[in-house]
Parts: sequence; structure tokens; C-alpha cells
Amino acid sequence: MPSIEIKELTKRFEDFTAVDKISISIAEGEIFGLLGPNGAGKTTTISMLSTLIIPSSGKAFVAGHDVIKEPLKVRENIGIVFQEPSVDDLLTGRENLELHALLYGMDSKVAKERIDEMLELVELTDRADDLVRAYSGGMRRRLEIARGLLHMPKILFLDEPTLGLDPASRRNIWKYIEKVTKEKNITTILTTHYLEEADALCDQIAIIDKGKIVIQGTSDQLKGTIGEDVVRIKGKVDKSKFEKMKCVKKVTFEKEGKHVDLVVENAAKNLQKILSYVGEIDSVEVRRVSLDDVFLHYTGHSINEENGKDSFFNRIATYKTTR
Ligand SMILES: Nc1ncnc2c1ncn2[C@@H]1O[C@H](COP(=O)(O)OP(=O)(O)OP(=O)(O)O)[C@@H](O)[C@H]1O
Ligand SMILES: [Mg+2]
Repeated sequence: MPSIEIKELTKRFEDFTAVDKISISIAEGEIFGLLGPNGAGKTTTISMLSTLIIPSSGKAFVAGHDVIKEPLKVRENIGIVFQEPSVDDLLTGRENLELHALLYGMDSKVAKERIDEMLELVELTDRADDLVRAYSGGMRRRLEIARGLLHMPKILFLDEPTLGLDPASRRNIWKYIEKVTKEKNITTILTTHYLEEADALCDQIAIIDKGKIVIQGTSDQLKGTIGEDVVRIKGKVDKSKFEKMKCVKKVTFEKEGKHVDLVVENAAKNLQKILSYVGEIDSVEVRRVSLDDVFLHYTGHSINEENGKDSFFNRIATYKTTR
């Protein structure tokens, strides 16, 4: 049985459809990524799955329980890290976790051991008794993950777990997420608008745009739907030789003959064979089709594009120049 099963789940706010008939199935222990730009409907989806808002139509089962008919059963099985920071600044890290244990009615002895274990896991043991006010953004996020896992949920929801963090802290958080979820076989659904995050961390990815899922699969499957690898060779190359090779799908010569681009099936496997057909090589570059290419292909825009005159940055720029 899948850990999370979503069928045509929809949320309308008056006449605006924020989430539009999405269907997803997530296996136990999997990290599933909802990848999409601002306003795509990611938080709305997480809110429905965690029983914070009621769907307009469709169905969702979390740990086998219906989110509409059995919200309490669903809540017993989930941990959640919200998009907006929600740890208490005026408590220490440990006190935040103690408060959570109290709210979940955990046995005090079990809670004490679990808190120590979780603090250790996210490497906050040394700072556990400092006020959260003195924590960095990455430390707060780690504390929130520890809190989300404290009551040993089967399923973890992470809404933009690394939003606003620098690349090093982001990679650090990925490490913790991967470690705990794989060790304890926790099913995780995370939202992100970072392509690298979805690529590095998620077993399955669904691209969501304007409330709709446009495609889903593993990162490699998504890339595979639009193409393979691109090998760019500079040197003395004879076109006719490549045309006979099965693994070469397309050959494009640059106008002035400075390089040739080959669309290749599995460059890692076939590169050596391809290069053996080339006389003198000046340089070789191999580029995989990226999730960027996939996103652009299926949505018609780039994920971080602030499109249109009406964007925040354009409004600021206009405001500045008109003053
Ligand atoms: N309570 C609400 N009332 C009306 N509209 C809402 C409400 N909540 C969300 N929306 C709208 O639904 C759409 C999806 O919002 P949502 O917060 O799910 O996006 P998101 O993918 O999480 O975006 P972000 O990356 O910015 O967090 C947006 O257009 C938003 O304005
Ligand atoms: Mg959101």
C-alpha cells in the first residue's frame, strides 16, 4: 500500500483554483519532491495533506487514512516543518523540543531520550541550551526538522526546508533529511523551488505549475523524456563516421566548423567509442540534459523567472526610477 495516495485533489479559493486535480502515489520510505515556482500550489497541497485545510474535491489518504474523514488519525502519523519559521525565539532549542513532546503527550522519559537523540542527529547538542534567538537560519531549520521528527512520525512534510539558506547550509540540511528518512524509513514529501534540491534529494519529482502537475517521475525519467546527453567535441571530426553510430541521435556542426554537438544516448557508456572515431581532439565537453531544461520544456518558462512587468523586482525598479 502506498504511504500517500492522492486522487484528483483540488482546492478552490472562491473562483480561483489553487490546486487542480492532482494525483500522486508515494511509496513507503520515498522522498517525493513537489517542484514548482511561487504560487504553484505547493503549500496548499501540503496543507490539505496535513489536514490544516479541507480539499474542495478529490481524495487523499495519508498512512492509509482519509484526510477528510479521519483527520486525527492522519495527524498522529505525520510530522511537519512549515514554510514559515515556527520555533520559539525566546525558548532554548531543547525547550522548543520539550514543548512539542508535551503537546504530543509523549512519555517524559521517552521524550528526554528522543530529544537528546534528535539534537545529536542535527548536530545541535552543543547549542541545545542557547536561546533560539541566537541561532543562525540553518540552525533554526535543523531544529525544526528535529522537532518534526520527535514523535517518530511515519510521514514527514517539509515545506521549502532550505528556503533562503546559503548553498553550504542547504547541502547540510539535505544530508540530515537523507540520513533520518532513510535510517528510519520515513516517507517524506517536500516542496521546493530549487531544482538542485529536487535533483539531489528526491526519489520522485512532480513538477507543479499553476496548480497542475505537468509531469512526474524520477529525475532521470523526466530528463529522459526530453533528450539525453550532449557531447561537444572540438577538433578534426568527420561527420559521416558518427552517422553510422547507433548511440548518436543527432549531429550538429557549428557553422564555422569549430565544434560539433552530438546528442548521445548514455554518454558515460558510449563516450570512449565515440572519441575513437575522432582524429585530433582539442577538447571534449559532456553536458547532461538538466532539470532546468525539463522545467522549461513542460511549462514554457524558467522556474525562477520573475516574469512580466508586474513582478516585484520590476515594480521596485520602476518605483526607484520614477522618484
Ligand atoms: N487562503 C487563501 N485564499 C486565497 N488564495 C490563496 C489562499 N492560500 C493560497 N492562495 C493562492 O493559491 C495559490 C497557491 O498558493 P501556495 O501558497 O500554495 O503556493 P506555493 O507553491 O506554496 O508558493 P511559494 O513558493 O510562494 O510558497 C497562490 O496564488 C495563492 O495566492
Ligand atoms: Mg509555499
